[in-house]
Amino acid sequence: MLKEAQRAKSLSIAELLKQQTRVADYSVQACDIYLDFSKNLIDKRAWQSLLQLLQSSRFFKAREELFAGEYRNHTEQRGVGHLALRSTASFYIDGVDVAPKVAKQLARMRELVQQIHSQAWLGYAGEPIRNIVNIGIGGSDLGPKMVVTALKPYARTGVRVHYVSNIDGANLYDVLENCSTGDTMFVISSKSFTTAETLTNATLAKNWFLSQGGNEKVMHRHFVAITSNTAKASIFGIHPSQQFEIWDWVGGRFSLWSAIGISIVFAVGFDCFLRLLKGARQMDQHFYNAPLGQNIPVVLALLGVWYINGMGAQTQMIIPYDYSLRYFTEHLQQLDMESNGKCVDINGQKLKRDSAPVIWGSTGTNGQHAYFQLLHQGNRLVPSEFILVKNSHYFALANQQQLLANAIAQMEALMRGRSKEEARAEMSHLGFTPRQIELLLPYRVFSGNQPSTAIVLDMLTPESLGALIAAYEHKVFTQGVIWQINSFDQWGVELGKKLAANIIHDLDGSSRHKTVHDASTQALIDELLGQGS
Ligand code: F6P
Repeated sequence: MLKEAQRAKSLSIAELLKQQTRVADYSVQACDIYLDFSKNLIDKRAWQSLLQLLQSSRFFKAREELFAGEYRNHTEQRGVGHLALRSTASFYIDGVDVAPKVAKQLARMRELVQQIHSQAWLGYAGEPIRNIVNIGIGGSDLGPKMVVTALKPYARTGVRVHYVSNIDGANLYDVLENCSTGDTMFVISSKSFTTAETLTNATLAKNWFLSQGGNEKVMHRHFVAITSNTAKASIFGIHPSQQFEIWDWVGGRFSLWSAIGISIVFAVGFDCFLRLLKGARQMDQHFYNAPLGQNIPVVLALLGVWYINGMGAQTQMIIPYDYSLRYFTEHLQQLDMESNGKCVDINGQKLKRDSAPVIWGSTGTNGQHAYFQLLHQGNRLVPSEFILVKNSHYFALANQQQLLANAIAQMEALMRGRSKEEARAEMSHLGFTPRQIELLLPYRVFSGNQPSTAIVLDMLTPESLGALIAAYEHKVFTQGVIWQINSFDQWGVELGKKLAANIIHDLDGSSRHKTVHDASTQALIDELLGQGS
């Protein structure tokens, strides 16, 4: 593969696109998604080498294990079961069919949300619940927030859903500005119920509730928890009957399909949530059944490996041309980088190659006016994925056409660039003098050949969104299998959490034993304590 990639560096995408069947050969249509990967630095030989790489990996076995509930997150001794959350059949993890547990939590979610929507469930002063405040971080925030934002056209009236993740008190107070204790329900979303940010914000919310009219006896009407740590949630003050279960076999970044997604149900209703699950299930089936070259997650995974390992790309831009998908890239950052940002393989050996790229991006067209300059004229290879949604929910046809035209134009420009001859011709047409042309020509040339992939949805519906999210989950899984890493642990986030716990004591003066820090860290602590030099 590496040799092929070296050769492919000198391919011209523009030349490849002159082949008659290029687009047909390098595009896929499935699950309401059209994937065009014809503008990539691959030809038949290159593509064959990638398919061979996958075939010689554990991919088929690993995929079987994933679908059979047998895939293991071995460093945490856990199963991997997010597929069970959207399956309609039995799903065995560690010999136990988890389908009834999943169904039970779904039924409980539906019941609570229906009671709130129908105003059968009232706040302690008899008011309807109008504000749902999800307090969580990472997977207990990013996925649900992204989905609720994306599905706004499906939102129920009467209930507004807010997200508080940042430990900066400004986040919670910002949200509470429009809430009153009598009309607000807090959803404390934390699988572990030990995450510092979530617990600190939950405590702040509880104190606000208790000091602004609420009391311990009526807390159950205003606080629910989604967790696998019932003991800790109970100590916090949430009655077991107000706790929804999530299991250790659901990774945080794969948890929006579980009770962690209850804020989605509050926002768009239970039927929409089922439609989201259906879309994901359809993508699961596609991933399981479709031939490799026509398999959306597999294609995305192979392209990623091609650029990262074959061509040394360090980053990947993912840019939705859809305002409703403005949190999508952020969700993918966690999904991809927390899963595959690893340097040790499943046998505990140091990886000899790079794994996950730095995923970045925002929405189009905004990105065009910020960082696209670098894509067009910088020296780096930056493969990108453009997400387009053909039909908008909003009545703004001219806006929609401009949005889509820009997405297509950017991909075209990245691919074809602008040669010296073209730039010269344009400048002389614009009336530049020969001297000006000589001076400015180098600045107006674009080398082009920058690869991009288009992912086109017909419309942003619960089904197509579910399929899109699941496609990326399987992409990440496939890459993890190729790199032979455990995509389901995240040990790298632990050290900072531990150090922060010590530094808090340095800052609030409660340290019994002074922690020894390096000079720079100590100087920062001193500065914040007002003891700087
Ligand atoms: O710190 C990382 C992480 O563990 C993520 O994997 C997870 O999504 C997030 O924190 C939140 O965890 P929890 O739901 O247990 O509060």
